[in-house]
Parts: sequence; C-alpha cells; structure tokens
Amino acid sequence: MKSKLEEIRARAQEELSKANAVEAIEELRVKYAGKKGELTAILKQMGKLSPEERPVIGQLANEVRGFIENAVDTKKKELAKLMLEKQLEEEKIDVTLPSDISPLGHKHPLSVVLDEIKEIFVGMGFEIVEGPEVEYDYYNFEALNIPKDHPARDTQDTFYITDNIVLRTQTSPVQVRVMEKKKPPIRIISPGRVFRSDAVDATHSPLFHQIEGLVVDKDITFADLKGTLETFIKRLYGDDSVVRFRPHHFPFTEPSAEVDVQCFSCKGKGCRVCKNEGWIEILGCGMVHPKVLANCGIDPEEYSGFALGLGLERVAMRRYGVDDMRLFYENDTRFLSQF
Ligand code: DAH
Repeated sequence: MKSKLEEIRARAQEELSKANAVEAIEELRVKYAGKKGELTAILKQMGKLSPEERPVIGQLANEVRGFIENAVDTKKKELAKLMLEKQLEEEKIDVTLPSDISPLGHKHPLSVVLDEIKEIFVGMGFEIVEGPEVEYDYYNFEALNIPKDHPARDTQDTFYITDNIVLRTQTSPVQVRVMEKKKPPIRIISPGRVFRSDAVDATHSPLFHQIEGLVVDKDITFADLKGTLETFIKRLYGDDSVVRFRPHHFPFTEPSAEVDVQCFSCKGKGCRVCKNEGWIEILGCGMVHPKVLANCGIDPEEYSGFALGLGLERVAMRRYGVDDMRLFYENDTRFLSQF
C-alpha cells in the first residue's frame, strides 16, 4: 500500500507538470484527491491493515494528499501568472504604429468667404468688432432712425424678446454701439448673425449673416464710399468686375444706394443666375444720416461717414454657384466637402 501511495504521488506530480490548462489541473485534483479519487479509494482499504501499519499508512496518505493539493494550487497560480503575462503581451499597445487616418475637416464655405471679406477690409485699415445678438430695440431700430411706427420695421420681421429687447434683425446696431464709445476716425466692419422671422426657403432663413461696415471721419464723402466699395468688390470678385450704384432708401443713411455687380455668368446679357437682370445686387450702403451721428453723440457738422451692409450667404451663394441657401446650414458633409 505504501508503494502504491508513492506511485500515486509520482504519477500525480508527473501529470501535473504536463498539464497546461486550469480545467486539466482541476481534473487531476479530482482524479487523485477527490471524493471518488484514487487516494480515497486506498484509504477505504485501511481497515484491512494491521493496527501497527494503520497510522503509518494514514500519515503517508495524508502527506500525499497534502502534496497533491499543494502541487495543484501552485500549478494553478503559475498558470494564472503565465496567462496574465501572455494577455499583457498580446494587448500591449505600440504607440509608434501609424494611426488610422481620420478624414480631416476644413472651413465651412461661409467661413471661407467671411475670412476673405475680413482680410480685404483689414487690408484697407478696418478694424473688426462684434456686437450682441440679443439687442435693445433702441440700438436695432430707434437710434438708427427707425422709430416705433416706421414702415421699415415691417420689412424686418422681428423676433421680440420683450417690448424693448429683440434678436437683432441687422448688424447695423453695432454702428451705434461703436460710435457711442469711440470718437472718429472710425473704420470698422462687424460680421455676425442676424435673425428675422422669415419662413425657410431657398433664399430665406430665420438666421443668416451680415457684415456691417462703417467709416466716420472729417470730410468723408460719397466718393470715399464708392472708392472703398469698388476696391472691395474687385478684390472679392476679380478686377474685371463691373459695379453699379443704384439709388435706394435706408432710414439710417442719406443718400442711400444699393450696389450691383454685373452678372459674371452672362456679362450683363441676362441669364438664369441674374434672373435676366444682367446685374446682381450685393449690398446696401449710404452716407450715415446726420440724425444717427447726432444720436451717438457725434457732431454731424464736424464729421461725416458712410456705412454698408452686406449679406454673407448671398456672397457665398454667388461665389460658389449655390442656388439654395439651406445647404449652408444642413451640415451635410457631401455638400460641405466640395469646398
Ligand atoms: N441693415 C440693412 C439691412 O439689413 C443693410 C444696410 C444697408 C446696412 C445700408 C447699412 C447701410 O449700414 O448703410 O437691410
């Protein structure tokens, strides 16, 4: 029986050393030290032994069981350690590997055109200023010579927040804010979002962008306005652009004009792009009304100025031949990636 026990110990050791999975080790434990295992089977025969042999064999059997259980434990730990090392090895991240190339974004077409416009004006000595989108009625209308009952209020369908606070319908209020704070000479442009409660269609949106321009100094004349705008338009649309000034009316300028460029698609003959007009309107402008200067604390006897307002979407639509303004806001990358 003693040699049988020794043989079991040797065999268990041998088989354990070969096992290389947790399940296999557990199987060996059951096979040797389990309730129905080989050791238990031997211990059941202890009754056949003489009283002298019994304690000797009992002790040896316990030793062998202890040995096997110990060996199983050790082996399991070794294996767990090995598996962890293997896992760490496999999951190691090589930070020097090249990464997946994700598509690179780029500027929105409206930003491209705005940046270009800013650069042209900055090149002519203009500063860029910004004003609030939520504005007092006073700045959006009143100070710009558009009193409460003025018909011009109807043409700019206004979002009212309260009786005297609105979402600005134009960037012109920034003129007033600048003139209140700064004494001439003033030379600024002010780009930004404006809001009108218009239904959405190909050429209307409740949110769009304008760029306001303002120059105030001594002896500023309509000739300065014409020169500045012609330079601007030629830089924007090319030196061969033909520009036309057309009389118009704005409450905050006097005299006022709208500026058209000859249609670059048909060169003035009339086509689909210019709706057969031969000309495309691109901005409004005029000499700052003396009342507006006075409202801002600037003496109209001493100073004069000109102002202009231009719609960014229109410029961008013309630049890129886009005929539906909604495309600019939908953020469909199939559209945007073309610019
Ligand atoms: N604020 C005008 C509009 O939204 C545009 C405009 C016209 C601005 C003439 C001006 C200007 O500064 O002089 O229709």
